[in-house]
Amino acid sequence: MAMAESSFAGSTPSGADLQRHFGASAADNITGYRSFEAGSFKFRRDEYFAHIQWPGGIHQMPIDVFLRALMRDVAWGFFYGTVNFDTVFGTINYYGEVDMFAGKTNEAFTSVGRDFTERFQSDELMATFKDMVSDWTNEGYDPFAAPQETGVPWGSKNGDNEEAISRERVTAKRMVGLPGDTPVRTDDNGFPVNRMFADVEQDQPEFHVEPGFEDEFSAFNLFSYLSRSDVTWNPSVCSVVNESLFCPTSEEFILPVEHGNDRCEWFLQLSDEIIWTIKDGSTGRYRAQVIAKAGDICCMPADIRHQGFSNKRSMLLVWENGSPKIPDLIREGKAPNVAVQF
Ligand SMILES: [Fe+2]
Repeated sequence: MAMAESSFAGSTPSGADLQRHFGASAADNITGYRSFEAGSFKFRRDEYFAHIQWPGGIHQMPIDVFLRALMRDVAWGFFYGTVNFDTVFGTINYYGEVDMFAGKTNEAFTSVGRDFTERFQSDELMATFKDMVSDWTNEGYDPFAAPQETGVPWGSKNGDNEEAISRERVTAKRMVGLPGDTPVRTDDNGFPVNRMFADVEQDQPEFHVEPGFEDEFSAFNLFSYLSRSDVTWNPSVCSVVNESLFCPTSEEFILPVEHGNDRCEWFLQLSDEIIWTIKDGSTGRYRAQVIAKAGDICCMPADIRHQGFSNKRSMLLVWENGSPKIPDLIREGKAPNVAVQF
C-alpha cells in the first residue's frame, strides 16, 4: 500500500531512547573552530567543509551548504517533518523530540542497513545546533542571505555574525499589522526594498474601520511586505486562521534543504519562477520536476521531498495546515498523502 511504504517505519514519535550526551571542544589550534558532539554524532569544520561522523560512517558537506541548512533547521525549530541537509544527513521532527539521521532517507544506505538514527529532546539538540551555527559562522557571512548579498564562509575562524544568525522568524499571532502583532515592514523599521523588487509598488490599502472594531481589522500590501524581506527561503507566518497558516517568503538561489513535509503543503507562486525538484521522501528517488511560474498553484504530497531553484528573487506563498494531528493520521493511514483525489 502506497501510504504504508511512504511512512518512516520504526520512527514512532514516542518510546525511542533519548540521547543525552552533548559536548563541545575548545577552539582548534589551527582553524580556530570548535568541534561538537550530540549523541554518537560528531561534527567538525575546517576551511571548506563540515565533517560529520557517526558509528559506521563519515560524511562531508561544503560549509556554505551545511550552514545554510543548519540555519534553517535552527530558525524553524526543526520545521515540519524532515529537513534533509542533503541526500545523507538531516533531522525528522516529532514536535518535542527529534531524530538526527545519516542515510535514513537514502535507499543506498537503508537497502544495506547502513543508515543510522538517534532520538533527542528537541530543545537539547537545538542548544548544540545553535552553538554550532554561532561558532562556525564568520564575520561578514550571513547564512540566511542570497549568495550575491553576503560575504563568504570559507577559511579559518574570523569573528562572528550573531546579529544575522539570531534573527527571529516572523510568526504572527493573528495577522501582520494588527495591533500588538508583528509589524508591516518599512524603511523606518529596517526593511528597505530588495534590489530585485525595485519595481514592486509600495502603496498600502486604504481602509476605514467601524468604531469598536479597530482591534479586529487590518490590511497591508503583501507584495510590498515580501519585497522588503531581508532573508531568503524563510517562510514567515503572516496570517493565522485556526490551523491555517499563510507563510509567504522570498526566494533566491536554492532552498538550502530538501524538505520532506509530514503533511501536504501548498505553494502559490506569487511572482517570477521557481523550479522544483521533487523526490520520494523515503528513498530519494527522483519523481518530478515542476516549473512554477507567477500565478501557478501546486500542492506537494505528504510523501515527497522538494527543493526549489529560483534564479531571480521571487515571491512564494507557502500554505501549511499546522494541526499537530496530521502526521499521525498519515502515518496510521487515516489521512491521504494528497490534498485531492480525482
Ligand atoms: Fe516545504
